[in-house]
Amino acid sequence: MTIIIDAKEGIDYEKLEKAALILREGGLVAFPTETVYGLGANALLKDAVDKIFWAKGRPQDNPLIVHISSKEMLEMCAEITDEKVYVLIERFWPGPLTIVLPKKNVVADNVTAGLSTVGVRMPANKIALELIRLSGVPVAAPSANVSGKPSPTEAKHVIEDLMNKVDVIIDGGKCSFGLESTVVDLSGGEAVILRPGAISYYALKEVLGNIEYSKAVVEGLSGSVPRSPGMKYKHYAPDAKLIIVKGRIDKRIDKINEMKKKLELKGYRVGILCFYETAHNFDSQYKLILGSMFDAKECGRNLFSLLRKFNQLGVDYILCEWGEFNLEFLALENRLYKAAANNIVEVL
Ligand code: TXA
Ligand code: MG
Repeated sequence: MTIIIDAKEGIDYEKLEKAALILREGGLVAFPTETVYGLGANALLKDAVDKIFWAKGRPQDNPLIVHISSKEMLEMCAEITDEKVYVLIERFWPGPLTIVLPKKNVVADNVTAGLSTVGVRMPANKIALELIRLSGVPVAAPSANVSGKPSPTEAKHVIEDLMNKVDVIIDGGKCSFGLESTVVDLSGGEAVILRPGAISYYALKEVLGNIEYSKAVVEGLSGSVPRSPGMKYKHYAPDAKLIIVKGRIDKRIDKINEMKKKLELKGYRVGILCFYETAHNFDSQYKLILGSMFDAKECGRNLFSLLRKFNQLGVDYILCEWGEFNLEFLALENRLYKAAANNIVEVL
């Protein structure tokens, strides 16, 4: 049975302490963060962490991020090899930045899928921070979705995927950012961004000097050897086949309408994912709006929940318009391309 705690209007400490105790003693607790909902287990207990892989159906070789609530917890889990780590955490924590560092032995080996490094992050969400603080232990937590599905940005998504597989789900309302944290690897020589997120390349470069994107980020899923093990799996996928139609606004609108017509003639139900500014060009009862094409934050916040909404609408195809956007859209673009398994139609 799963206990659901409603914390949308604020924290009830009696209930949160109960959840923290369950977490500490080896149970699974799903909790909100500023990025997406996490599925937490005590990172010091191998058996507790095993339950995460079971509940999500997650491949065993994909490491989990350890969530902490204090600098002491960071030092307990990871070796700080570079003073710049302290500058980074001073500037960006609590916040959507995961730092990969050499792992210490107390962290259960299955948390990091046997790797000698561990990803650590201090979330900027009061419920998450208080839960971790009250539990008194570092908390291993991937996104709280069934592996391969869109990440959960509301408690109802967690309920959809994990009801009766976890002990507690804490409902803290909608996640304010809606895309997962930036992952930066500082365990080797140079700093490498393994996953783009809210904390940008330039923000990190200011602190770190030299920094680069991993090949996997730059090239998408195909081709390159993934350094972040999570990169190689199917991700964020809606039930329908998602196709990105990329190009100049007028061309992509025409292309989408043409593709939609053809697919409908074959009897398929076709969803459209578009921007406010272009929505009037598409005539469909299965049209959902990502946000404004000038507001990366708004679009990022909406992406995952819209992908889930298409599942409810029961569409066979989703045609999503896309263009050339600035770096603020990079995290969103990275998730969208993965959700589409790099299925992109370019119109010139
Ligand atoms: O925003 C987030 O980071 C959310 C919330 C819950 O905090 N968590 C999250 O966890 O997105 P997950 O498991 O869905 O994604 C973790 C990513 C994966 O791509 C994984 O491969 C990478 O981080 N990762 C974790 N530990 C790593 C390590 N030691 N080395 C390289 N990559 C690592
Ligand atoms: Mg995930």
